Amino acid sequence: IRRITTHILQEMKNRGEKIAMLTSYDFSMARVVDEGGVDVILVGDSASMVMAGHETTLPITLDQMIYHAASVIRATKRALVVVDLPFGSYQGNSKEALNSAIRIMKESGAHAVKLEGGTEIVESIQRIIAAGIPVMGHLGLTPQSIYKFGTYTVRAKEEAEAQKLKEDILALQNAGCFSVVLEKIPAALAKEVTESVQIPTIGIGAGGSCDGQVLVINDMIGLTKGFTPRFLRQYLDLFTEINGAVKSYVSDVKSGDFPNDKEQY
Ligand code: KIV
Ligand code: NA
Repeated sequence: IRRITTHILQEMKNRGEKIAMLTSYDFSMARVVDEGGVDVILVGDSASMVMAGHETTLPITLDQMIYHAASVIRATKRALVVVDLPFGSYQGNSKEALNSAIRIMKESGAHAVKLEGGTEIVESIQRIIAAGIPVMGHLGLTPQSIYKFGTYTVRAKEEAEAQKLKEDILALQNAGCFSVVLEKIPAALAKEVTESVQIPTIGIGAGGSCDGQVLVINDMIGLTKGFTPRFLRQYLDLFTEINGAVKSYVSDVKSGDFPNDKEQY
């Protein structure tokens, strides 16, 4: 199987083929996701919530991201694997950002990194790209800044913030980002910026005009009970499925039905 590259993603945008991206955080899930044919697997810092149970993405560490990323890398053959630089590992200065990106690449075997932000972090992005590491941008709702925003509601509905996003995406493109995630912004704005840049945009809650889509795997298979934002399409109700299986197992053990004569040595 041929591994997806940043170059292939650009070709996909050029010929109008949509890019499918999902998150993964561990070996078993990444194997299923990779074999399902996604083009890009994101080892997102959403691991802080869905894997570790934190309320935000802020607490997860660089070491923890590397652990998740290395597990995902060992499971994938086809997808391009992008890893989030976690909060606190790049905002200090461009040297810190570069060192964090290098650690992710060396210690996990990932293919690219993702950073949240626009013009404020362009110097860091340039330095990482200069070292040969592909960078994906992330604009709109940037969860590492949740305490600045205050809420997880739609971003860039006002003209000033929309204008800033348009400048930011051009800055990211000029810095050499191979793609940009657009999170929770109006579909019309996402369409406009997608048409205004050469590089592919990947949307989450940003409408159907983006060049690709991304969802958190645990959300799309119904493992994150009670999380039902409008942008989410839930393909399975795995919480209910697994809960039912666990209940059956418990009852089989209690009743002595499991294990039976064939399920022993
Ligand atoms: O961490 C994450 O899962 C993400 C996606 C939602 C884009 O950054
Ligand atoms: Na993230």
